[in-house]
Amino acid sequence: MEKTNQALKGTQDVLQDAYKWQYVERLAVETAALYGFREVRVPTFEYTEVFTGSVGESSDIVQKEMYTFQDKGGRSVTLRPEFTAGVVRAMIEHGEINGALPRKVCYAGSCFRQERPQKGRQREFHQFGVESFGPADPAADVEIIALAVAFFDVLGLEDVKLKINSIGCPECRKEYLVRLREYLFSHRAGLDGDSLNRLETNPMRILDSKVPSTIEIVAGAPKITDFLCGDCSRHFGSVLEQLDALEIVYELSPLLVRGLDYYTNTVFEFVSASIGAQDAIGGGGRYNLLVERRGGKPTPALGFAIGLERVIMLMEQTGALFPEGKKCDIYIAPIGDAASKKALELTAEFRSMGFWAETDLMNRSVKAQMKYANKIGAEYALVLGEREVEEGAASLKKMESGETVELKLGSELCEWFTQARLMSVKKELNDIFSGGDFDGFDEPDEDEDFQA
Ligand code: HAM
Repeated sequence: MEKTNQALKGTQDVLQDAYKWQYVERLAVETAALYGFREVRVPTFEYTEVFTGSVGESSDIVQKEMYTFQDKGGRSVTLRPEFTAGVVRAMIEHGEINGALPRKVCYAGSCFRQERPQKGRQREFHQFGVESFGPADPAADVEIIALAVAFFDVLGLEDVKLKINSIGCPECRKEYLVRLREYLFSHRAGLDGDSLNRLETNPMRILDSKVPSTIEIVAGAPKITDFLCGDCSRHFGSVLEQLDALEIVYELSPLLVRGLDYYTNTVFEFVSASIGAQDAIGGGGRYNLLVERRGGKPTPALGFAIGLERVIMLMEQTGALFPEGKKCDIYIAPIGDAASKKALELTAEFRSMGFWAETDLMNRSVKAQMKYANKIGAEYALVLGEREVEEGAASLKKMESGETVELKLGSELCEWFTQARLMSVKKELNDIFSGGDFDGFDEPDEDEDFQA
């Protein structure tokens, strides 16, 4: 029997590592902003039809993976398995595509797919993505790919490969589908069950199969790129040319079709060999017909989404750096009631100056308090006893070195502290820039007030 006091299979608690998530999400949104993408937030659940009508009835997502249920009003609703469908719904509903185009948006949040959990594959996972509404020009395809590449660069991820293909428009797919079906039909004896079912409904999805015997057959199948019409072929050629001009390295992948049905023309995926079988870090492409199909005015569009669990996993595995979470600036350790009151005042003052300040909430001895201060990485500690409160002065201790400085409680303490923190920021910057051309800051007169 399942244990109901444990997290559900395929979900994850983030208890110590939230700073990694904050860092990655902040850089994602900041990088996207440089390209003009502004954050939107859309609901976590929608009418089921929003997804079935966009992602496609024959996709794995719709057929097997959606968390769909009836709410108490008898509506069929679904937890979002991806963002694109909901963002398209919102753009149409609020007339966002009737204004100035392109309308460029980005988003981050959780998605839900009931897949078999394994490394890099969860039932609740998180995506960061962008969608660009309006531009038909190949420059827009290149813009979003360049944005994804810039995001990986800024995170320090090197082992990410771009795979790209064009799956054309319905016109060029007509003849292709006839040829593909013929080929696959003639090899049907070797196809797996799922692929046999798709032979009639959506043969292009067979190209995506992970079953070894099917992969062998698919290797010899006709390639969509040999069937592109003039417009689609020119579009794809121009995308590749502009990627070359920006020196963005890609691999042409004529079998790449993606698992969602809304795509037209350019499709792409970012993969990494360093994170196991679930190697897709992100993927996307054009969906020029979706807005119209969903009831909006004809509007070409495109986007991508990146799996944040996989990004963080790749960063951890390749040793890319996360800036350490902020540590406590000052711990104030009171002894006795009067000191506790004073400590409360002082922590409030430090906090109002923007410092992380802590004091005792557990009625601990000074020794235990200092142990705790060490544990939370406090840079400084201030012990406040009755004498210190009476005299209005106390000694501030630098935890790492044990050095102390005697300061008057009040403005002298606050000013000294601000100055000391400023010095340490300057020192950090000097350390970062030393060796480069930066001839910036003077060495701080470090610790001149301290007595060893
Ligand atoms: P997708 O390829 O289905 O595309 O998902 C994008 C990324 O989400 C994947 O490359 C992967 O990193 C991550 N991902 C997907 N499923 C899971 C899972 N079960 N566990 C962990 N990570 C997962 C889309 O969702 C499209 N909406 C992308 C797009 C936006 N196309 C145009 N605009």
